[in-house]
Amino acid sequence: MTATAPTLRGRIYALLRYSDPTPAARQLRVAHLIVLGIGLLAVILLSLDEFAKDYRHLLRGIIWTVTFIFFAEYLMRLWVAPEAPRYDQETPLKARLRWAGSLPGLINLLAVMPAFMFAGGYTITGADAASVFCILWILKVGLHAPAFSTLARVVSNERAPIASVLILFAILLMMAATAAHMLERVRQPEQFGSLPGAMWWAVVTLTTTGYGDVVPLTAGGRIVGSMLMIAGIAVLALMTGVLATGFAQEERRREYLRVWEQVARVPLFASLGVVTLSEIVGKLRTRYYPQRITVVRRGDAGDSMFFISSGEVEVRLPNGGSVRLGEGAFFGEMALLERQPRTASVATTKPTTLLVLYASDFYEIASHIPKLAEAVEIEAKRRREENLERQTSGRR
Ligand code: CMP
Repeated sequence: MTATAPTLRGRIYALLRYSDPTPAARQLRVAHLIVLGIGLLAVILLSLDEFAKDYRHLLRGIIWTVTFIFFAEYLMRLWVAPEAPRYDQETPLKARLRWAGSLPGLINLLAVMPAFMFAGGYTITGADAASVFCILWILKVGLHAPAFSTLARVVSNERAPIASVLILFAILLMMAATAAHMLERVRQPEQFGSLPGAMWWAVVTLTTTGYGDVVPLTAGGRIVGSMLMIAGIAVLALMTGVLATGFAQEERRREYLRVWEQVARVPLFASLGVVTLSEIVGKLRTRYYPQRITVVRRGDAGDSMFFISSGEVEVRLPNGGSVRLGEGAFFGEMALLERQPRTASVATTKPTTLLVLYASDFYEIASHIPKLAEAVEIEAKRRREENLERQTSGRR
């Protein structure tokens, strides 16, 4: 198979992907969010009658501009839909239809509804229907949040414990509602006379919301209420624990895949076997740095070293000179090897992705994989000598 250059449609598809890590795609996403924020602000301000009077025309102008930008975006996304790998078995028309019917497709369609209303002759006045459609723009923010897909996976992975907690919730709810119904129905027939009425009180109490609109008055009812409140805290804590661990596990898995993709670009790791590599990958973390950000400051304590998976950094040496390190190089090893403060400051010259290895993991890996430790030590020695030489020649 020969690699072919990406077509214009392919390039636009890559740029519009919500998860594309390239700087151009990131800038586009920031611009998109700014447009979205301006649009939402205009809709909110338009609903303030006293404010809207003087600026009504301006606000409407903004809303229409934003709507048409979204309309253009919708058409663009529809056009590039056949580029999505998941539709590569489909005809272009079918791919577009499938994208239009998908969740992102529907959310993007809802965002352009005001444009259709405009075309149909509706106007925006205050908080009317069209403004309500504009508020649907907020759904587009969700498309930018990678955590949404993570949330879906967490719920799917943890469905058994989540179901257990929900069942526990239902059991407690039914038992407490029945007990309160039996104990309170004579004194408060209106509130506790029926099971649904008692269940409303049980939900409010179990979730520890406690509106105070329905309160048990008998001693027995109060004992049930107290126990239910304590059980409520326990059930919520249980659910929080299940979701928090699920999120942490999912994030660890994703980070592992991200690192695995990047690690191939570092020659130091290229010669290692899969088993050794997988041990290292589990300990590395990816960090994205924009241009001109200081990653390491001279004199600071060193708690990690870095491998450059893409981009470039500049090492500002103590004698005033500088060295540039590109893809595949590493830095920050000297402080770890010598257990001394950082010898130089290092800043990015381009948007850069680094793989971070914390000191404790570095020492552990160095003891397991002598080949790797040796390669790092040789380079550190060379750098130390180079710096010494530069310093002495500077003094001369
Ligand atoms: P460390 O001292 O931990 O922090 C600064 C880093 O800059 C240092 O580790 C090296 O990784 C790097 N560095 C220092 N001197 C040089 C050099 N002469 N060439 C390349 N990199 C260097």
